[in-house]
Amino acid sequence: MKRSTFGSKFGMLAAAVGSAVGLGNIWKFPYLAGENGGGAFIIVYLLCVLFLGVPALLSELSLGYIGRSNGIGALRNITGNNRWGIIGILGFLGSFIILGFYFVVAGWSLEFVYQSVMGEFVGQSGEVITQNFDTFRFDTWRPYLWIVAFIVLTAGVLYAGVEKGIEKWSKVLMPMLFAIVVYLCVYSIFLPNSSAGYKFYFDFDFSKITADVIIAALGQAFFSLSLGMGAMMIYGSYIEKGTNLAKTSIQIASLDTLVAILAGLVVFPAVFSYGIDPAAGPQLVFITLPTVFAQMTGGYFFSLFFFLLVAVAALTSTISILEVQIATVAEEFKMNRKLSLVLMSVVMLVVCSMCSYSLIPIEEGNELTLFGKSMFDICDILTSYIILPLGGLLIMLFLGWFYKKEDLHYILVVETKCSEGLFKIYYFFLRFIAPLLLLVVFLQQLGVF
Ligand code: PFF
Repeated sequence: MKRSTFGSKFGMLAAAVGSAVGLGNIWKFPYLAGENGGGAFIIVYLLCVLFLGVPALLSELSLGYIGRSNGIGALRNITGNNRWGIIGILGFLGSFIILGFYFVVAGWSLEFVYQSVMGEFVGQSGEVITQNFDTFRFDTWRPYLWIVAFIVLTAGVLYAGVEKGIEKWSKVLMPMLFAIVVYLCVYSIFLPNSSAGYKFYFDFDFSKITADVIIAALGQAFFSLSLGMGAMMIYGSYIEKGTNLAKTSIQIASLDTLVAILAGLVVFPAVFSYGIDPAAGPQLVFITLPTVFAQMTGGYFFSLFFFLLVAVAALTSTISILEVQIATVAEEFKMNRKLSLVLMSVVMLVVCSMCSYSLIPIEEGNELTLFGKSMFDICDILTSYIILPLGGLLIMLFLGWFYKKEDLHYILVVETKCSEGLFKIYYFFLRFIAPLLLLVVFLQQLGVF
């Protein structure tokens, strides 16, 4: 059977940017920047994207493009054996862990769209909003209902296939997302005392750069660019032959970074305008911001558009993560694609329900915790700081040290028209700089330094 491909360059780019732009940009990036010193974090993040993210992204797209299959199959097609299939297996496992908490937060965004429509934030105090959020999260059925809704939305798009589902919807949703984020940025400028937010965000105080800031930025770069998990490999395998992969990688990384920076430009002026702590952590978007919207003139529309933005961004990302599972199961077990889709959706519903349940505090009878951390937190830490960077490292080690340089040169320079100079720089980073940086960070995390 002929393998599906994206129908147009714009469609392919929209799908890949859709995968990259997600909760990572709008929910995680602002709170990580807030916790890690604002501008200092941004500088380190930009360096991570440039020196690690772009080479890793180009490598992952190239592997998919060459191997024309899922993470396991692509490496088998290239090497003729199963040894490097570990990359695909790691990504496949990683996809369960990421989706485990991703669908939960994505479900919250739908609840918040609903609450915004009903005008439930208008005029409320911070305490009431916090209390409402907890009541919602610990409710016996409501969070699960939204998880089911989000899984159905994602599966619905994937049911229609690569071109008629993923590509078609990304082409609609991504421009919509850009329009909303730009609108909100402009709106933020006119908030009282918004300049304090910009000052915090662009305060490049180098003394704030610590090992923790670097690790947070690195994990975030991998998470945000959808790296190390086989998602970009799968999308790479659907890219039409001859498409310029180097240019595509740079475009994806630039647009993803742009949206993350813009999300901060929406969040921080609002936060400072109403004297709220920018280091509120993961609840920044779900508790702090509604508190701001509650007091703001026009807050009704701001909150509606904002949570719509979060939901749209999350959707184009869940599509790519679930696609990893569907394609892997369908191709590796020779299963009908639609059956694989139903199977994986049901499995994810169980995993996500456990994750959501694990958020209930221990004193209220919850046992799904480990080392005092909820399963939800563990999923987040395990993927951003271990699985994704490790997957990225293995992909780059394979391409840089075990794949023939002439073959890679042929694919990138002759077939997909990357310039000779860019190839040279990329190859140097692929072989030496990126793996070395990643190794140092891993050793640091293990406490070697
Ligand atoms: N890049 C997505 C985000 O920023 O929300 C998350 C993600 C998608 C991670 C796909 C990994 C992945 F394979």
